[in-house]
Order: sequence, then structure tokens, then C-alpha cells
Amino acid sequence: MKKHFFRSLPVMAVIVMSCASAPKEDHSWIRKGIDVASAQLKLTAEEIADSAKLPRCISVGYELDFLCKQLEHQSATFKDSLHPNPSPELVGKRQLVGVSDWTSGFFPGSLWYTYELTGDQALKQYAIAYTNLLYPVREEAGTHDVGFMMNCSYGNAGRLSPNDTIPTVLKQTADNLIARFDTGIGVIRSWDFGTWNYPVIIDNMMNLDLLFNVSKLTGNPVYKDIAGKHAYTTMKNHFRPDYSSYHVVSYNSDGTVELKETHQGKNAESSWSRGQAWAVYGYTSCYRETGDKAFLDFAGKIADLIMSRVKTSDFIPYWDYDAPDTPETPRDASAAAITASAFIELSTMVPDGKHYLDYATTILKNLSSDTYLAKVGENQGFILMHSTGSLPHGSEVDTPLNYADYYYMEALERYMKLKGLEYKNL
Ligand code: GLY
Repeated sequence: MKKHFFRSLPVMAVIVMSCASAPKEDHSWIRKGIDVASAQLKLTAEEIADSAKLPRCISVGYELDFLCKQLEHQSATFKDSLHPNPSPELVGKRQLVGVSDWTSGFFPGSLWYTYELTGDQALKQYAIAYTNLLYPVREEAGTHDVGFMMNCSYGNAGRLSPNDTIPTVLKQTADNLIARFDTGIGVIRSWDFGTWNYPVIIDNMMNLDLLFNVSKLTGNPVYKDIAGKHAYTTMKNHFRPDYSSYHVVSYNSDGTVELKETHQGKNAESSWSRGQAWAVYGYTSCYRETGDKAFLDFAGKIADLIMSRVKTSDFIPYWDYDAPDTPETPRDASAAAITASAFIELSTMVPDGKHYLDYATTILKNLSSDTYLAKVGENQGFILMHSTGSLPHGSEVDTPLNYADYYYMEALERYMKLKGLEYKNL
């Protein structure tokens, strides 16, 4: 026994020495991000408790000249598309929305992630209450956004606090989503408004996670099959040769493409930052759920495009990758958070994934800095600052957005899981 102990001493000494010399990684930025999130979410949940609404953003105005400079054009059509400026008493205030707004699932989803990270029961109780508000959404059939709305709220509820009702609610929602799939065209229709014949936006890739989830919950492959078909048709028609994505593709009824354009980007041929983020996230999910290598290769190509096009040194992109490279160009923290979340997952799927993880880490550290992370009690209760919703509409330019917060929390959760970190040890 003694002999054996002494024989292993040199080895132990080496281990002890190498442990002592390895610098301990500083995770205080994660702790700070989670603590701010936790405080801001609780504060908001408390303040809006009687409204039966959800927080979306802070209302901001715009100046036409500034928007024109960003868009580098001044056409009458653009001016016609502008949303009216909010009335002065609303500027700087938290904007609440009803459950039918496409962003309604993000606030409950952020509560779920922050509960998951901290184990804080108060966050769980708020998460349950705000998720329950969305119960009527299971009947909505007029938009593709039900995937965002219900998978971020009920989907996370089912993961973290399952009960018998949740699968039924998610299945009903998914049935409404797949009813928007046209077998001949091969995609799920996004919008029912506008003059397009059959519009599909790249954002729709994000609704597929609901379908994958419901296939697993029900054992019925139909949801997953439709998701896969949507992803394949989108892969064929939504992307340019450099793997950047159009925002809107509208189809003729025979499945040919009617037109390719943008709704929220700088112009039809530009690379709208959040659109590229939705794309890389969506194809990463598709690979996770199907194991189809074509999706993984595609996600990698989009990721490489994003990294080659970013102009900002902190990797929080301008609102469009083709926006003017000027100090006053608004960033989109939401695109950064979505990209970070996708890249963390993607980094685990490919042999050379470290550069994706490094990129995501830089984004997350920067989002957790004072430049983007709110101070507790400020920012109208939102976690992050500096996102852009739709600059061509003069809408939500350089403001907090609930989905930036959601994907930031998701990315932190993914990062911690990957690194084997626990909140209590940070
Ligand atoms: N899905 C709408 C957006 O990304 O703004």
C-alpha cells in the first residue's frame, strides 16, 4: 500500500503542479449576465402582472434623414412603408403586447431559461404564469409565428416542468402550423397579409423546432417530415451562391418563385443580419433533429458567411451586413444573440468547431459588458440594449427587444452546459 502510494507521488506532483499553473477561467461575466437577467425579469414580471400582456421593446422614434442614409436610397415606396412615430409620451416607455403578437413567447421563455440556470423558484412561478397567458394561441391558424410563440413558452415549460396539458397544447399548435404547408410548393406559408402570392420568410426556419418537438412528443413523424421538406425547399430557393439569405421568397402556385426581396433588410440583395442568424440557427436545428448531413454542411456555410461579413470588432453586427460602416449605424444585439446560440450548438457538431465557439464566446462576453447589458432597474426591465427590429419601417431602431433577451439567455444556458458550469460555482 505504502510502496504504491510513493510510486504514484511523482505523477501526483505533476498533476498538482499543472493544476496550479493553469489559469482559472474567469466566468464572472456569465454570473453578471444571469444576475442582471434574473433581477430584470422579476422586476418586469411584477410590474406588468395585472396587464395580461407581455413586454416587447422600448418605444423609440426615428428621423427620416437618418433612415434614408442607412438605406442609401430615398424612394417614395420606402417612405410609404414607415410606421408612424410613437407619440412623445410613449417614447422611452416599455411597449407591451397581447398574446397574438409574434414575440409573445419570448418573455416566458426567458423566464424559463433563467429559472433553469438559477433554480430560482420565483422565476419558475412567473414562467408558469406568463406561459399560461399564451394558452389561446394554440388555436391561431393565421401565421407561421406560432412556432416561435409556443415552442419558446410551452416548449420550454414541457422541458423543465412537464405536465399532461403541454403536449396537447403543442400538438394543436403544430397542427395549425402544418396546415399552412403546401405539398406542391413544399414550404409552410409565412404571412397572410400583403400582396405576395405565397410569402415565405427565412425566419420561418425557426418555427421548425416546434414541429420536431411535436414529432417526438406524439411519435408521429409527419411534423418532422414537413419540417425537413420546408428546410430543403428553403435551401434551394432562399440562398445566394455565397450562402447569404434573401429575407422574403414568394412562390407562384405551381411552386416556381414569384419574387425574392426583403421586408426588414436594407434592400433585396443585402444580407439582413437577423435573417442570416435565423438561417444558421434553423439549419443547425435541422441537423440536430434529422442527422441529415446536408443541413450540417449548409449551417457551416452560413456560419462562415456570417464570420466573413461582420464589420464590427465586437461581432455584434450592424442591423444589416451591408449597412454603412459608420459609428452611428445601429447594431442588432438580437442577431448577435441568435448567432451565438446557434454557433455554440454548431461547434459541437463539427470536428473543427472551436472557431464557432470562440466567435460565440466573444459575442456573449460583449453582450455581457456594460455596452449591451442593462443595469438593474434600468432599460425598462429588459436585459440587453441595442437591437434593431425593422429599420426600413422606422420601427424598433436601436432599442431592447424581448427576443434578444431570450436568445442571450438560451446561449448562456448552452454555453454553461457545454463547459460543464453551474451557476452556484461561477
Ligand atoms: N420574425 C420577425 C423578425 O425577425 O423581426
